[in-house]
Amino acid sequence: MALGLAVSRRPKKMEPKVIDRHQYLPKDKQIKRDYRAGRLAAELNGLVDVRQILSKVLEGARSLCSAEAGTVYLLSEGRLTFVCSQNSYLERVVTEFDGLPFEGQHLLLNRLTLAGFVACERKILVVNDTDNIDPDSPYQHLKSIDLGNNYICKAIMTLPLITVGDDLLGVLQIINPLDDFGQVTEFDEFDERVLEFFANFSAMALEKAVLLRDSVLTNIKLVMNYDHTETLAHAQRVAALSTEIYANWSSRFKIATAERQKILNLLPLAAMLHDLGKSFVPTGILTKPGRLDLRERSIMEKHVQAGAKLFQNGGTPLDRLAYSIILDHHERWDGRGYPGYEENQEESLGRRAGKKGEDISIFGRILAAADVYDALSSCKTYKEAFDESLAVQIMEQESGHHFDPSVIESFMAIRPILGKIRDRFPERVGL
Ligand SMILES: [Fe+2]
Repeated sequence: MALGLAVSRRPKKMEPKVIDRHQYLPKDKQIKRDYRAGRLAAELNGLVDVRQILSKVLEGARSLCSAEAGTVYLLSEGRLTFVCSQNSYLERVVTEFDGLPFEGQHLLLNRLTLAGFVACERKILVVNDTDNIDPDSPYQHLKSIDLGNNYICKAIMTLPLITVGDDLLGVLQIINPLDDFGQVTEFDEFDERVLEFFANFSAMALEKAVLLRDSVLTNIKLVMNYDHTETLAHAQRVAALSTEIYANWSSRFKIATAERQKILNLLPLAAMLHDLGKSFVPTGILTKPGRLDLRERSIMEKHVQAGAKLFQNGGTPLDRLAYSIILDHHERWDGRGYPGYEENQEESLGRRAGKKGEDISIFGRILAAADVYDALSSCKTYKEAFDESLAVQIMEQESGHHFDPSVIESFMAIRPILGKIRDRFPERVGL
């Protein structure tokens, strides 16, 4: 299924005869396409963020057969959930934060739809003319969705995403391949072969990323075991906010594309770990309803070093980013934060002077803003949730004091999606 704007166009009428558009393709071009599929698969292997992988899977699969659109469904709680969609004809990439019309929509795991059929049968299904599906076949194309979006899915290849261990992760749908003249044509056996290869590698990359994400979430649950005021939703919202702020900030400061992509891949995971060190703080202090005295506060503040230490000697880029985030997320732009510079350096009234300005890593500066905004806009034991406009106003007032002004500029730029992030990760009892 593809998403659409109020645009209407019917693909060129298909001839009943199946045309193999690759039959005259020189052998070396086929080899080049296979080589490109291998390279795209290798790129997937370097990613750890589930959302980046989903987006790259669609981009890659579509490019391999010049397809106009595509969709990924993931299997969740016995249903297929619509999670990512692209459509070059509609000249935009639709993500959940862009107002996805089908956000959260599910398909039942049965044989009545193309995606459901493929998930049940675990086989590739190619439908080159959705107008002429055999009425006796168990599946049908959901025309209502095409009509609702003024976009016609004429040719659809649907592939299962199956791990090496034979688990079904979801379904990949590639829609409307285009010929050299930009007209919708049909999928052929070469498309099927190359997409099957690519879908297999996509499932491997996806499985690895899901395992890593679940492992991070398990760590956060460990913290929640000690501190019932922490929630998975808070960690996920802070990660989403931080990633969106960095995307805007890195674009404004013209950070090199390779570096930017690398951070955008790692930040959603690393940011979720920012308060991991709280598992080292006694529960009595973590959950004390009133103000902490000086001694208790000093113990509480140690969660920063305790958490950072877990990643200090790690050798991976994710370890290094997590270390930087955890160590700096309570520093303040004006130097009044903690834990400050290393021991034996500047001391101030018995407490180390906080790092100041750009001595704080950009990731720490971004996390500080995301963490505080989420706290302001959430209900706490000591306060009700502030509404968005009041929380944003406080953030602006703290620009140049608590927060880096350049980070607050990026925060203000992403204001239109603040509510969407909150809606996507609502607080749930027991999570
Ligand atoms: Fe913290």
